[in-house]
Amino acid sequence: MATPPQLMHGKVAMVTGATSGLGLVTARALAQQGARVIVVGRNADRGAATVRHIQQETGNPAVELLVADLSVQAQVRRLASEVQTRFPRLEVLVNNAGALFTRRLLSLDGLEMTFALNHLGYFLLTNLLLDTLRANLPARIVNVSSEAHRGAQINFADLQGAQRYSGWRAYAQSKLANLLFTYELARRLEGSGITANAVHPGFVATNFGRNNRGVQALLWRVLHVAALSPEQGAQTIIYLATSPEVEGLTGRYFVKNQAVPSSKESYDSTAAQRLWQVSAELTGL
Ligand SMILES: NC(=O)c1ccc[n+]([C@@H]2O[C@H](COP(=O)([O-])OP(=O)(O)OC[C@H]3O[C@@H](n4cnc5c(N)ncnc54)[C@H](OP(=O)(O)O)[C@@H]3O)[C@@H](O)[C@H]2O)c1
Repeated sequence: MATPPQLMHGKVAMVTGATSGLGLVTARALAQQGARVIVVGRNADRGAATVRHIQQETGNPAVELLVADLSVQAQVRRLASEVQTRFPRLEVLVNNAGALFTRRLLSLDGLEMTFALNHLGYFLLTNLLLDTLRANLPARIVNVSSEAHRGAQINFADLQGAQRYSGWRAYAQSKLANLLFTYELARRLEGSGITANAVHPGFVATNFGRNNRGVQALLWRVLHVAALSPEQGAQTIIYLATSPEVEGLTGRYFVKNQAVPSSKESYDSTAAQRLWQVSAELTGL
């Protein structure tokens, strides 16, 4: 196999949810391109196996594991402080860990799990790492969202589905939250040298949805017949994390390596500010 260009040589890149699917392929590609890679996983054994796999596949020994359940705020805080201690700088942060929960579950902090993991996980980790990202500019934040955001709204009256829960609605809302967060972050970071963009990877055959049981889990497997491979799906994430073509571009939503418009609701800056404020309160930022 031809050696890919060492675009990331000398850079530190961190990928959450790197033990499976899109995160794993992204972390491997970053290592292949010469980055020092921080693999974030919630399970130490799976994480260690992932690190070994990436080191062997890429020949890059500079791949390290940090363990955190990103639905738990204390663990996100511990993760951020470990990064600050062990890595003086960070040039790329890929927020990717996410899931769909068909039943309403609560996180250890008592928050609805989809909102806690898919949105607050991105929000808290990113805010805690901004100084580390500022340490060596330019730096990039890539948030993995989804086309599932289309048609969704942020239900501020019942943000955590306490009155009425549907797994798909909670997921779609969380992926809209990823976009509102990305655009608000980009506005706040304007001119700072840190860019923030969001991405839809396509419909990809990963472990996504396998945490659920029953008909929906079965349906997911059947649908996978028509899905992209994780290698295909991760292409736009890798592009946003590494390509010189998007240097300086911020506040955009990418599908298949192209900036495309996201839903009308995702550009509502009042909703974005309100979501930011609620998220800051819920995470004690
Ligand atoms: N697959 C698709 O078709 C698709 C489409 C659009 C968007 N996306 C988005 O792509 C992202 C990655 O999903 P994927 O398809 O690659 O799914 P995946 O194979 O299930 O990978 C999800 C990753 O997130 C990690 N994770 C789950 N819960 C976590 C927690 N509480 N704390 C820390 N890490 C946790 C998983 O860890 P474990 O290995 O320990 O389970 C795994 O590494 C998600 O944000 C998803 O919304 C996926």
